[in-house]
Amino acid sequence: MNRPSLKHFYIKSFGCQMNSYDGERMSELLESQGMKPAKDAETADLVVLNTCHIREKAAEKVYSQIGRLRRPDGSSPMIALAGCVAQAEGAEVLARTKMVDIVVGPQAYHHLPELIEKAAAGKVVDIDMPLESKFDALPERRKVGASAFLTVQEGCDKFCTYCVVPYTRGAEVSRPWSRIIKEAHALVDKGAKEITLLGQNVNGWSGEDEAGRAQGLDGLIRALDKIDGLERIRYTTSHPNDMTDGLIEAHGEVKKLMPFLHLPVQSGSNRILKAMNRAHTTESYLALMNRLKAVRPDIALSGDFIVGFPGETEQDFQETLDLISEVRYSLAFSFAYSPRPGTPAADMIDQIEPEISRERLQRLQALLNQHQFEFNQQTVGRKTAVLIERHGKKEGQMIGKSPWLQSVIVETPVAIGDTVEVVLTDAGPNSVKGQPITIDKLETV
Ligand code: SAH
Ligand code: SF4
Ligand code: F3S
Repeated sequence: MNRPSLKHFYIKSFGCQMNSYDGERMSELLESQGMKPAKDAETADLVVLNTCHIREKAAEKVYSQIGRLRRPDGSSPMIALAGCVAQAEGAEVLARTKMVDIVVGPQAYHHLPELIEKAAAGKVVDIDMPLESKFDALPERRKVGASAFLTVQEGCDKFCTYCVVPYTRGAEVSRPWSRIIKEAHALVDKGAKEITLLGQNVNGWSGEDEAGRAQGLDGLIRALDKIDGLERIRYTTSHPNDMTDGLIEAHGEVKKLMPFLHLPVQSGSNRILKAMNRAHTTESYLALMNRLKAVRPDIALSGDFIVGFPGETEQDFQETLDLISEVRYSLAFSFAYSPRPGTPAADMIDQIEPEISRERLQRLQALLNQHQFEFNQQTVGRKTAVLIERHGKKEGQMIGKSPWLQSVIVETPVAIGDTVEVVLTDAGPNSVKGQPITIDKLETV
């Protein structure tokens, strides 16, 4: 292989927001080494595929993506396979395809510059989970949009029986308070108006503040609330078992904390939740939801659902639909169960036929979509602030987010990063329109 100098890189991230965040950090790292972003994979000397292992489809997609990187003359760029497939499959990746040069796990990507150098001489695999934090070895934040991610916690100790994350991301680790505060300031200095704190179990974050006091995520949120120029705080993804009293209270007290919570429940059947090792029940979950609504009546709720988990009967599934009807989510993500190698659920005997899962998923999604549309309709007429994040597909359209995380289409000239006061109008299934207004005081958020 003859690749004398790598000048341009292209990173494609799949999977969750933590992978997008890692993609941004890898990009900053490569730029700090003098490389430049390429506009597409075709013109890049190095392509990083930042992969996801959560479901079979996500993991398999990677191999077709790799194939597509071969160029008409038979050559290919240097290819680094990063992310959770890299962690799960390690050196097996090299046995499956000859095209990959570097396999690097989610806890080792700060080693990319050395790995690239070594790859000139032969293929390399680095799936270590070193004790030292990759974050300390990464350069300062450079690239920031109006809404920025900030990973505060990684890994998972919950071991839900269907899930690969504890194996691909390792044990739960919280980043230190001071590093997080420093990164938040850097993000705001570079123009971020909103910060979303990220973690596989973000509400499991724990640490000590400058004074050595023990703090949880609510303490961190209250500290971020004091940063001038930061307008909005969000966090994702939370586990019901780590929703502390302090965090619930913060939803009622911290102005910058947006009235939205993504709190996955997965199933509405206690029997299935037990088999999933979720350690919460539908009753304890609903009690949490009610406490949140009591402190923040306009809070919008979001969740994740798995249908067709081994042993799920029509009755279990019906209980999930009942729970959904009770909560009425404003947004939700739902998946057909996908057996993942090495997880306990993959070996359970009563696997559900794919056609049954598919049919249940359709019914579940029809209900979730209906609720999402109804939520959007209910917000019509509300006066609120929209943070503009990007250009829309149509000429003259700008897209922003409402406090309730709805996509809001604004059709008057506004700039990315503007916070525009609007009245919400026409509701669609996936977005609402915002008509800018000029008033001194907003009635809601
Ligand atoms: N830490 C988060 C989410 C992690 S993965 C949590 O605890 O909720 C994101 C979502 O993918 C999960 O919430 C779950 O709904 C889904 N998921 C995880 N493993 C899956 C599997 N094997 N099959 C189908 N969906 C899965
Ligand atoms: Fe996976 Fe469960 Fe951990 Fe979420 S809490 S990452 S679903 S093991
Ligand atoms: Fe996927 Fe890994 Fe995130 S498996 S969902 S990229 S933690």
